[in-house]
Amino acid sequence: MGASPPFLLVAIDGGAASGKSSTARALAARFPLLHVDTGAHYRAITAEMLRRGVTPGDGPAVESALAGLRLGTRVSGSAAQMEIAGKVPGDEIRAPEVNAAVSHFAALPAVRTALLHYQRSQVEVARAHGFKGLVMEGRDIGSVIFPGADLRFFLHADPVERARRRAQEGQQDSVAERDRLDSSRKTAPLTCPPGAIDIDSTHLNLDQVVARVAAEVAARLPHVP
Ligand code: CDP
Repeated sequence: MGASPPFLLVAIDGGAASGKSSTARALAARFPLLHVDTGAHYRAITAEMLRRGVTPGDGPAVESALAGLRLGTRVSGSAAQMEIAGKVPGDEIRAPEVNAAVSHFAALPAVRTALLHYQRSQVEVARAHGFKGLVMEGRDIGSVIFPGADLRFFLHADPVERARRRAQEGQQDSVAERDRLDSSRKTAPLTCPPGAIDIDSTHLNLDQVVARVAAEVAARLPHVP
């Protein structure tokens, strides 16, 4: 067997509404990278648990629900979407009930372990679809999922500015409360991993953040415009 072709792993982490998704999407539009939004994975599992009436405090029920979940991936353009039992969940993953519950489910080691394996498997999905790498965004990508990623970014923004962005999207969400829960949990807390490139986007617009991140990616994918 010959050596695998080079593959670029880009990790983007940051707090709620820090601009990760928009930045990752823009990168995937510009470079041959598969975009994986891991927040959507936690949201999809949360919506599924709520649908089944499972609460985060009921460990055995959570574990038995997780064991029965059939996770798959659909690649749509440059985005990887997680399927549960062959279906990609819709807008219900952005509902206020999911915003309120997701950090509680995301704190559970059983949920994180199930998703760790699934998220690492996205490298094979990207390769199989001919991508030259992937850009994965979340809270623990550069620290836990791919600590050896070629590029790791951490996006910061002032909490007031982030709450304003979310409200502008018409969403009922408490970014400060989710950040508090995500930063204080024992397993894979939200933190800027050592060596990550730290970007404060409070006073930057999306184009400026994307330009900063894209410059680093372009330097590592030199044959791509
Ligand atoms: O879009 P937004 O930044 O508001 O959040 P998200 O990326 O959709 O993530 C929703 C929630 O999933 C977070 O508040 C975390 O509780 C959890 N999450 C996580 O624990 N680890 C990740 N890698 C991604 C998300």
